Amino acid sequence: MRPLDRFGASLLGRLDPETGHDLAIRIIGLGLVPMPGPHTTPRLRTTFAGLDLPNPIGLAAGFDKNARAVDPLLKAGFGFIEVGAATPEPQPGNARPRLFRLRRDQGVINRMGFNSDGAQSVAERLAARSSCGVVGLNLGANAHSTDMTADLARVLAVCGPHVDFATLNVSSPNTMNLRDLQERRALARVIDRVAAARAGLRKHVSLFLKVSPDLDENALRGIVGAVRRSGIDAVIATNTTTDRSSVGDAHASEAGGLSGKPLFRRSTRVLSRLYRGFGGDVPLIGAGGIASAEDAYEKIRAGAGALQLYTALVFQGFSVVKDIAAGLDRLLERDGYASVADAVGSAHG
Ligand code: FNR
Repeated sequence: MRPLDRFGASLLGRLDPETGHDLAIRIIGLGLVPMPGPHTTPRLRTTFAGLDLPNPIGLAAGFDKNARAVDPLLKAGFGFIEVGAATPEPQPGNARPRLFRLRRDQGVINRMGFNSDGAQSVAERLAARSSCGVVGLNLGANAHSTDMTADLARVLAVCGPHVDFATLNVSSPNTMNLRDLQERRALARVIDRVAAARAGLRKHVSLFLKVSPDLDENALRGIVGAVRRSGIDAVIATNTTTDRSSVGDAHASEAGGLSGKPLFRRSTRVLSRLYRGFGGDVPLIGAGGIASAEDAYEKIRAGAGALQLYTALVFQGFSVVKDIAAGLDRLLERDGYASVADAVGSAHG
């Protein structure tokens, strides 16, 4: 950790996690944190699902839910960023406290419940961005929605003109019944409806699907079946888990989704299974517990063409992004790969 990160982490670490996070977003949004710009090399530069990325390491959804710091985050070292989730109508989310740091396990539990300023405000902020770079939006549903599919389509219709990709989030554990949309037939209907909203946009927006790490073999087969020959351009594996078997921290029994190091194995297993299920034909983003270049490389070898992280920022600060990118470049070189794409799925032989 660099001195500035250590200072920021110790300052923010003393506050309750959500207050610390809100303050961090404010400070970053004001441009008060020096950002290095995207780290890139010819080996790291990659094209993922039609998007040209300076490196394959992205910011995962949930860090900047309301698109308050898009320009600085595009300069934080990431190859792309995802903001949101945004819901159609503004909503406060669950009662606080709803965010817990599991320091011993290097994990986080959150039950934010899609706190969102709403699609209109998020669209206005996205429209005002001035930096180049790939930006996606996580589509969310309102807590009391009677038609969650319509909610996802509506957020896309409002914000779509200002993003490069949008993620169908049917895997957050904190909105009741949302994860049921991962069932094969329900999922096929959601995809069709959101793809129809995409068809109504004037620019091309790639559609990603984000899945849970808690799906069994049968459910994963259903995902593979629904995604094949659908409008989905890539799958993100994975969101947070409700499993607690790998944590022992005092906060371990808090309800919500667990992220960070304890999620690494579980999410990489799902990634690997999806890679095999799709026969390598559908681009995959590996997310869940990436905290080092070795973790990033393992996800790529398991089948990821791009990556996302969030929780590592909580424990290591923003310097982790450049450290992972530079370390990944060295690992690819060590093993004789000329590009990220050459190493994708190499663990499968
Ligand atoms: C998240 N994540 C998340 N995912 C999503 O699809 N929509 C969202 O709104 C959120 N919100 C959110 C809030 C908080 C506080 C956390 C910690 C996480 C999940 C996130 O994008 C990612 O998939 C997981 O956190 C796994 O990656 P890491 O954190 O282990 O690198």
